[in-house]
Amino acid sequence: MASMEKIVSLCKRRGFIFPSSEIYGGLNGAWDYGPLGVELKRNLKQAWWDDMVAHHDETADLPGAPQPFGMVGLDSALLMNPKVWEASGHVGGFSDPMVDDRETRARYRADQLAVFALELVGADGAVERYDEVLFASPGEVGTSAPAELFEPHRKRIASLQKHKRAGEARPVAVPGALNDEALRAKVIAPGAAAPGTLTAPRAFNLMFKTHVGALEDNSSVTYLRPETAQGIFVNFKNVCDTARVRVPFGIGQIGKAFRNEINPRNFTFRSREFEQMEIEFFCRAGDSEQWYRYWRERRYRWYLALGIKAENLHLREHEASELAHYAAACADVEYDFPFGRSELEGIANRTDFDLRQHMQMSGKDLRYFDDQEQNEEARRYLPHVIEPSAGADRGTLAFLSDAYSEDEVGGEPRTVLKLHPRLAPIKAAVFPLVKKDGMPEKGLEIYRALKKRFNVYYDEKGAIGRRYRRQDEAGTPFCVTVDGETLTAGTVTVRERDSCAQVRVGVAELGAYLSERLGA
Ligand code: GAP
Repeated sequence: MASMEKIVSLCKRRGFIFPSSEIYGGLNGAWDYGPLGVELKRNLKQAWWDDMVAHHDETADLPGAPQPFGMVGLDSALLMNPKVWEASGHVGGFSDPMVDDRETRARYRADQLAVFALELVGADGAVERYDEVLFASPGEVGTSAPAELFEPHRKRIASLQKHKRAGEARPVAVPGALNDEALRAKVIAPGAAAPGTLTAPRAFNLMFKTHVGALEDNSSVTYLRPETAQGIFVNFKNVCDTARVRVPFGIGQIGKAFRNEINPRNFTFRSREFEQMEIEFFCRAGDSEQWYRYWRERRYRWYLALGIKAENLHLREHEASELAHYAAACADVEYDFPFGRSELEGIANRTDFDLRQHMQMSGKDLRYFDDQEQNEEARRYLPHVIEPSAGADRGTLAFLSDAYSEDEVGGEPRTVLKLHPRLAPIKAAVFPLVKKDGMPEKGLEIYRALKKRFNVYYDEKGAIGRRYRRQDEAGTPFCVTVDGETLTAGTVTVRERDSCAQVRVGVAELGAYLSERLGA
């Protein structure tokens, strides 16, 4: 897999992703999508919307689904009544443990700061544990490479090895060190000169606070939504009353979410402003386990169908100890990003927690009424909820990382983004072979005809090989070249990005040819 540096550099160079407000030095945790990036991310969101909502057939028996089900969409406001966030538990509990370094003034998420002692291996092979001083590094003992953990303490560890005449030094985790005052006093923070400068972990609420209206007092406080999910729950009754849906059914929504992350990092992976693609799927409590399994499998397979390599994608069931108090089950779709394996999407069985909370807080009856149910007691109930919650920015980063590839064509190195045609920002590029003999005119004619149907690109500048390589880097699946035969025989060459194979296609058939291969 390509390094993060290569992906970030390609994103900048080709206009996929830029740091937000870059001319002013940027803003940590915020990113802008450039001309190619906006197309890629929109295509990802469109694929999700089409596959999950718009093209869903509520009459069909889908493989693995317990029964046919409905799907509808929603677009709720970013700003909501602050009571929403009290009911959901975000005001009281949506926080990360944070520690500050009094010396360097850096701030860390306590659960992302590894504290380790050293094991020093002597010349005779004997192992001595050294824990008079402990070291803290961003990362995790066991998953982060020792070199990464050692980096902020390189000099100190090297001088210790010399002093103790030791060979190899190995990190050994000291779990819970930051919560223990005596151990914390021994911890050297990254970049600090002396031990004991880290504060005890404190809860830090991740919601962005703002004020609505002219008065900036407590009565006007609200929040930028930290997830799109609550917008769906508070509209559950509206949807039931208007959309003629019957349980089981799902409501899908795509939109921005904001979290004041303590340490935004790994490019767009952990941002402060990002987009979610969430489904709240409502079913009877007794069926929720079956639906949970269905959605877990279906969401995992969705990434594979869009081209993510199976060896890079994993489905991880949470241990009972990892579950939120309201969740009956949860699984993560994880991806092997260049910086390590991490969550791409979570699928949770949220029981009836959210609807129950909103029913209590608002005083409105949010129970579903099943008019076809004969049993009086079973007619009104709070459905249970399965929630597949995906990130559009993490998805975009995963598809970019997975598609990035370097190979050689005709003895020359090339960078190519092997994106699924549905996701590719530009679907085809049209080139006249040379800028004369009527080829540009014919090329423009073909370009204009195709542009009505697909996002195509016209380029007549530079050597043809260089034009191919620019499109390979942008992930364009097809390049159409107009040459002498186009003018005499009415055919063009179509070059396929990954194999570089070229075929001749009649100009009259070109639209249908591309449409079939692009799945458009
Ligand atoms: N409603 C459930 C919920 O929001 P979550 O696991 O906190 O669950 C769901 O978020 C998804 O949103 C994650 O799997 C991830 O793809 C995306 N996400 C969460 N925080 C993010 C962040 N700071 N930056 C980018 N994406 C994020």
